[in-house]
Amino acid sequence: EHQKYIRNFSIVAHIDHGKSTLADRILEMTDTVAKRDMQNQLLDDMDLERERGITIKLNAVELKYHSKDGHDYEFHLIDTPGHVDFSYEVSRSLAACEGAILVVDAAQGVEAQTLANVYLAIDDDLEIVPVINKIDLPSAQPDMVKKEVEDVIGLDADDAVLASAKKGIGIEELLEKIVHEVPAPQGNVEDPLKALVFDSVYDDYRGVVLSVRLYDGTVEPGDKIRLMNSGSEYEVTEVGVNSPHPVKRDYLMSGDVGYITASIKDITQTRVGDTITKVDNPAEKALPGYREMEPMVYSGLYPTDNAKFGDLREALEKLKLNDAALEFEPESSQALGFGFRCGFLGLLHMDVVQERLEREFNLDLITTAPSVTYHVETTDDGVKDVENPSEMPDASEIKSVEEPFVKATVMVPNDYVGPVMELCQDRRGQFDTMEYIDDYRVNVVYYIPLSEIIFDFFDKLKSATRGYASLDYEISDYKPSDLVKIDILLNGEKVDALSFISHRSFAASRGRVIVTKLKDIIPRQNFEIPVQAAIGAKVIARTNIKAYRKDVTAHLYGGDRTRRMKLLEKQKEGKKRMKSVGKVEIPQAAFMAVLQTD
Ligand code: GTP
Repeated sequence: EHQKYIRNFSIVAHIDHGKSTLADRILEMTDTVAKRDMQNQLLDDMDLERERGITIKLNAVELKYHSKDGHDYEFHLIDTPGHVDFSYEVSRSLAACEGAILVVDAAQGVEAQTLANVYLAIDDDLEIVPVINKIDLPSAQPDMVKKEVEDVIGLDADDAVLASAKKGIGIEELLEKIVHEVPAPQGNVEDPLKALVFDSVYDDYRGVVLSVRLYDGTVEPGDKIRLMNSGSEYEVTEVGVNSPHPVKRDYLMSGDVGYITASIKDITQTRVGDTITKVDNPAEKALPGYREMEPMVYSGLYPTDNAKFGDLREALEKLKLNDAALEFEPESSQALGFGFRCGFLGLLHMDVVQERLEREFNLDLITTAPSVTYHVETTDDGVKDVENPSEMPDASEIKSVEEPFVKATVMVPNDYVGPVMELCQDRRGQFDTMEYIDDYRVNVVYYIPLSEIIFDFFDKLKSATRGYASLDYEISDYKPSDLVKIDILLNGEKVDALSFISHRSFAASRGRVIVTKLKDIIPRQNFEIPVQAAIGAKVIARTNIKAYRKDVTAHLYGGDRTRRMKLLEKQKEGKKRMKSVGKVEIPQAAFMAVLQTD
């Protein structure tokens, strides 16, 4: 009976199609937040998220809705992150729902990332409620987008809600649809407890707070619970719901979405996707779909000031409390000193961590170029995982190297298929399929090495297609490749942090591009600096950074004093994020240059 009036759903949308704005309107309409308290985009509560307009952490909010059918409903709106780096979290939060609102921008239409998430929702048998948003835009083409939703996704979009989240149009119609189309939860209160953890965050006061969806049974403070995959056990201290601020409840029962705290100190013991049951009366089987998350991209983080190593460790430990996917271990580099090799889910994840370290912990960091994990088989029949290019054994000791590939799906108007294929081939892509999804759009699928995607592939794709292409990718498997390590020597000394891995056929051209780039990036000093790229002992490219001749401000002597001050200020700015290696000052940009391809 209780469950009959519950609706659990999330919103699936491509970045920028208006998910957060729509969520805000729904919160307003249901009086969950008084209008005057309404802070824009309440669901994204990290500053960084708001600034970048991306949703990283999941959240669930309980709303009360009085329907036109006369009943009061309890809605749980579960937020999902919109970026490929976090697709596992998306899949877990969708698993907590019976329905999904699909938001499509009336001017942009369906994009690849939307598709990926809709397919996740369809796989989970969710009821999908399509919403065509931004119909207030002059460029809106709701009928065309409806047709697209039907052709591309295969959903009946005839009576899709036409909405403007910005202007508040169509919101009530949507709420009624949620009542009538999204099924009520079907669990059994009498069965042993089965609850899905779809998010977990660390809170200084309460410890780890688990966001959960109960399928069967009940849970209340004092219960002894077990996380079925990790095996850890705790005693529940509090249960409740977010509405949107935490509100304590006496218990949660099947169908409910809420939170559990249990004085848990270690977030890595409470991974997203795990199933909670009771120690006394355990469920037989965990909910399906649990997966350990593995970092895909590694890079070295080094404080520019070596004395800050301890601070960096502390900061990483703090971040890790709220980010179970972040991995780090100390490493040292001849060039950069002591730092950490960190593992990330993807490049966005890496950016976010780096930015938080600098902003919230006031650290000045050098980040080395992101790398993937290579599987290396050595001639003495050993096998090792190489996460740091400088640790790649010499060619003479290598039997074979395998690298991770992704299956990349690019959705693009047919006029741009040529440039997309060219780009994919350039990045060592192996063609898989090409499929027309309607009269003018094509899905192009390639298998591409992850290492070729992680850096600037998306930017290149956008510029090759005037912004029209969208990209989605999933990790496929490891395949053998003919790879070599390229070392960079400055002033005759190998700089380990600049070593990178390249396919043999590109090695010579990459070597040339990189020494030229480094020549531009590394400031001149009062002596000439040879820059060389080498494979083993063989130099494949070289150039020189000439010595500078005069003081940068010399020609301004006698001139405007403030101008000179400004120039000096600028130089000081430029000094940040520099690292002295031997006698040479290397700016941050140099460490990323090794990944640039042109
Ligand atoms: P992420 O948080 O990055 O996933 O984006 P989102 O999908 O949540 O998009 P968001 O709600 O932040 O909206 C993106 C932009 O579209 C913002 O500038 C909104 O103001 C704008 N926007 C949202 N809904 C509408 C609408 O109905 N009409 C118009 N004209 N603009 C809208």
